[in-house]
Amino acid sequence: MITDMYEPFVMHFASSATLALQRARMTRTLLLRMIRMAGLRDPKETGAHVNRVGAYSVELYEAWAKARSIPEEEITRVKDIFRMVAMLHDIGKVAIPDNILKKAGQLNEEEFQIMKTHTWQGARIMGESESPMDSMAIEVALRHHEHWDGTGYPGRIDVETGRRLDENDTSGLKGEEIPIFARIVSIADVYDALISTRVYKKAWKEEEVIGAILEQKGRQFDPELVDLFMEILPTIKHVQEKYPDQEE
Ligand SMILES: [Fe+2]
Ligand SMILES: [Fe+2]
Repeated sequence: MITDMYEPFVMHFASSATLALQRARMTRTLLLRMIRMAGLRDPKETGAHVNRVGAYSVELYEAWAKARSIPEEEITRVKDIFRMVAMLHDIGKVAIPDNILKKAGQLNEEEFQIMKTHTWQGARIMGESESPMDSMAIEVALRHHEHWDGTGYPGRIDVETGRRLDENDTSGLKGEEIPIFARIVSIADVYDALISTRVYKKAWKEEEVIGAILEQKGRQFDPELVDLFMEILPTIKHVQEKYPDQEE
């Protein structure tokens, strides 16, 4: 029978689909463990913060993708991996010494320079890109502190050493040179840092946070993403309630 002829193929695809699923599940578990480890190192980046940044980021991506009529299946697929990737944005902080990472007060200039290395240290942890998810994770870790107007960091550097490719070029990446996923995480991360209580600051009022984000439209942040973020604010508020800060 013709169906018998196809059976080996069907079996083959069935088992590789199972394998792929298993692999995806394993990757997810490992990533969640990495995120938990990073949370242990850095008391300022709580699990709730990381969950919120992941969730805001996928909402903002969805709004951006819909505005571009990206097919629904692709949006769903990307959201799934982007959530993990966004959660890993500060993974490079595991490489920052305790006296800087856990300092209660403001960092001095020298300490801040060291803190800034968490961007490329994170990209290094992710290693060479083996999958679209890896490259997305590298981009986000490396570029989530770049500013739309080019005043962010780390700019054009060698990811292995953190050295500038051109000593005279001290600016950051600009506009659409900054990967879209990093531009999204940048807004999500700053919004959450401002709206929440941290060891070193009180939570800002909602109007103050919105004001600060709007003020940075076209400066720190991609103007289109700021507009989309304002449109989806009710959803963002919803995410906030879903992942409240826990007493630790
Ligand atoms: Fe960061
Ligand atoms: Fe963060």
